[in-house]
Amino acid sequence: MEKQARIYVAGHRGMVGSAIIRKLQAEGYTTIITRTSSELDLRDQAAVASFFEQERPEYVFLAAAKVGGIMANNTYRAEFLYDNLMIESNIIHQAYKTSVKKLLFLGSSCIYPKLAPQPLKEEYLLSGFLESTNEPYAIAKITGIKLCESYRSQYGCDFISAMPTNLYGPNDNYDLQGSHVLPALIRKFHEAKINNQPTVEVWGTGSPMREFLHADDLADACFFLMEHYNDELFVNIGTGEDVTIREVAELIKEIVGFEGELRWNTEKPDGTPRKLMDVSRLHNMGWKHTTELKEGLERTYQDFLANEVLYVE
Ligand SMILES: NC(=O)c1ccc[n+]([C@@H]2O[C@H](COP(=O)([O-])OP(=O)(O)OC[C@H]3O[C@@H](n4cnc5c(N)ncnc54)[C@H](OP(=O)(O)O)[C@@H]3O)[C@@H](O)[C@H]2O)c1
Repeated sequence: MEKQARIYVAGHRGMVGSAIIRKLQAEGYTTIITRTSSELDLRDQAAVASFFEQERPEYVFLAAAKVGGIMANNTYRAEFLYDNLMIESNIIHQAYKTSVKKLLFLGSSCIYPKLAPQPLKEEYLLSGFLESTNEPYAIAKITGIKLCESYRSQYGCDFISAMPTNLYGPNDNYDLQGSHVLPALIRKFHEAKINNQPTVEVWGTGSPMREFLHADDLADACFFLMEHYNDELFVNIGTGEDVTIREVAELIKEIVGFEGELRWNTEKPDGTPRKLMDVSRLHNMGWKHTTELKEGLERTYQDFLANEVLYVE
C-alpha cells in the first residue's frame, strides 16, 4: 500500500478498527477514510453503494460488525445474523464493483466447530457442528469468508480473510450485558475494589481455556497480511497459547488490586471448552505477537482507568 493510498477502515471506532487506524497512522498513511454507523449504516445497500462510488477507496479493512459476548450473541440471534450478513455483503460487493485493490475481512475464532480438534487449524472450517450460543454470528462470519473466496475465484478480486482469536485492548466494550470476558472481569473487579465488595461473581466454572491477543498486535498482523498475503484460504491470528478462565480471572484480580473472593456461578454457560488457534501458517509467514498477556492486561487496565467515564456510561 502506497503511503498516499485511499484506505477505508470500516468500524474505526471499535476496538479492532481503532487499533488498525493507530497502526496505519504510525506507518505514515495519510488518506484514511472513516464513517461512524450514524453517518453510514453499513446494512443499507444503497447508502454503501453511493459511499463507495463517491469515496473510491483503494484498500478496505472490514472491521465493522455487530459484536458481543455469549449473552448478547444468544439473545440477539436475529440481529447478529442479519446485521453481519448485510454489513459484509454490502461492503464486499461494492468493493468488487468499484475495483478496490485489496480488502481484508475480519472474522473470529467462533467460526470453528464446537468440538474441533485443538489447536484449531484453518482446514477444520465446516467440519462439524457450531457452538449453539453463537451459531448465527458464526454463520455470518463463515459467509464473509466464502464471499471473499468466491469474489476471488469468480472475479479475481484480491480479498483476504483473517480470523482473530479473543481480543482485548483500548476501546473494548465494558457494558456488562454485551461484553466479552476480559473487559467484563476488569470492570467487575474494579467496581468491587472501589465499593469494597467482599466477592465478585464470575460466570461458569472457570475451566474453559481461552487464548487472548492484544488489539495492537492484531492490527499489526492485519497490516502484515495486507502487505504480504494474497491467497484464498483465510488466516488464523492469535498467540498460539491459552490459559484457563480461572487463571485469567486471578491475573486480572491481581492487576486491579481487588482483595476479595471470586464466586463462580456455575448456572451460567461456559461456552466452548477450549478455543486455541493453530497459528503456524502465520508464524511461517514471519509474523508473531509481541505483547504478552500480563503486560497487555496491565496496559488495558491503565486505559480503562483513563477512559472510565467514556467506557462506563
Ligand atoms: N472483540 C473481539 O474479541 C474479537 C475477536 C475476534 C474477532 N473480532 C472481529 O473484529 C471485528 C471488529 O470487532 P470489534 O471488537 O472491534 O467490535 P466493536 O468494538 O463492537 O466495533 C464494531 C464497529 O462496527 C461498527 N458497526 C456496527 N454496526 C454497524 C452498522 N450497521 N453500520 C456501520 N458500522 C457499524 C461500529 O461503528 P460505530 O462505533 O460508529 O457505531 C463499531 O465501531 C469484528 O468483525 C469481529 O468479529 C473481534
